[in-house]
Amino acid sequence: MLILGIDTSCDDTSASVVEDGSRILSNIVSGQADIHVKYGGIVPELASRQHIEMITPVVDEALKTAGISLGDLGAIAVCYAPGLIGSLLVGCSFAKAVSYAKNIPLVAVNHLEGHLLSPFLESPQPQFPFISLVVSGGHTSLYLAESFGRYTELGRTRDDAAGEAYDKVSKLLGLGYPGGPVIDRLAAEGDPKAVDFPRAYLPESLDFSFSGLKTAVLNYVRKNQQCTPVLSPASGVSFRIEDVAASFQEAVVDVLVRKTQSAAQQMGISRIAIAGGVAANCGLRTRMKKMGDGQGIEVFLPAQMLCTDNAAMIAVAGYHMAARCAFSGPDLNPRAHLPL
Ligand code: KG4
Ligand code: ZN
Repeated sequence: MLILGIDTSCDDTSASVVEDGSRILSNIVSGQADIHVKYGGIVPELASRQHIEMITPVVDEALKTAGISLGDLGAIAVCYAPGLIGSLLVGCSFAKAVSYAKNIPLVAVNHLEGHLLSPFLESPQPQFPFISLVVSGGHTSLYLAESFGRYTELGRTRDDAAGEAYDKVSKLLGLGYPGGPVIDRLAAEGDPKAVDFPRAYLPESLDFSFSGLKTAVLNYVRKNQQCTPVLSPASGVSFRIEDVAASFQEAVVDVLVRKTQSAAQQMGISRIAIAGGVAANCGLRTRMKKMGDGQGIEVFLPAQMLCTDNAAMIAVAGYHMAARCAFSGPDLNPRAHLPL
C-alpha cells in the first residue's frame, strides 16, 4: 500500500510517499531556517505563511519523485498534533481537501509516533518491545514501545527539551538557529572536559531536566567574556567556544545515554531506538552505540535525515493506523498539544 505522508508541524514543509510502511519512494523536505534565522527562533506566523506557499509544490514533487499519481494512494497520512497550530492547520486543511476531493482515506498521525516509528524506515527494523528515546526541539521522552500503537511513557523532561537547550545555548553563544547542528560541529573541535557543566540525573525517575544546564552555560559565558563571543580565542574572551560546545554536548549526551540505559535495564529490554532531531547528533549516536555494544543492547539509529522532521515517518505511522482502520474524516482538527 502506498501512503502519502504530510508534515507541517513546525518549520519544515514535508511530503513523502512510502510503500508498505517501510520503503521510501520519495521524502521531500522544504526547510525555512533562512526565514527564521534572523529572529533567533521560529516565528509562527511566518512559518504558517511559508507552509501555504510550499505545500502544493512539495506534495507535487513527492508524487513526481515516487512516479505515482494521487489515484495510486491507499491513504493520506497527515500530522495533526502536536506542533504550531497555524502550521498544523495548513497540512491538515490540505490533506482533508485532497482526501475529500479524490476520495482517498485519511489518517491523522501524532508527530511523536512518527518520530518513534522512524527506525522502521531502516533495515534491520527493531523488534518489539523496545525502548525509544524521542529527543527533539519540543520533546524529550522515554517510551516503552510494545507494538504499533502501544506506547507507554516512562519519563519526560520536566522543563526544556534537549533540542530546546541546544537552540538556547546556540543563541546565547551567538551561533544562530537551529543550534543543534552548529554546536554538534563545533563540539567535534573542542575539549568535552574543558568545563564541568552540571548533569541532572534525577535518579529517582526516568525524567530529564535541561534548564539548569542551559543556565550554567549562560553563567559561564557571562563570567568569562567581556565582548561578543567569536569562534576562536579572541581578545576579551577567555574561553574557546568549541570547548564550551563540547562540554555542553558532553553533559547532554551523558544524561541521555545513562537514562536510556537505565530505562532498558529497568524494563529488562535489550533493544533501544533513538529518534527526533537531537538523535541526528554525532556525539549522541556514537556514545549510544558504544553503550549498547558494552551492555549487549541493540541500538537502532535512523539516518540523520530521518531524525529531523520529515513526512516519511508520518507515512510509516499512517500505514500502521490504516492497517487498524483508524481513519479520520473532514471534522479532523489539529491540536497544538497532545501526548503520545
Ligand atoms: O525533530 P525536529 O526536527 O523537530 C521537532 O520536532 O522539534 O528537531 C529539531 C531539533 C532542534 O532543536 C535542533 O537544534 C535539533 O533538533 N537538532 C540537533 C541536531 N540536528 C538538529 N541537536 C543536536 N545535534 C544535531 N546534530
Ligand atoms: Zn519533530
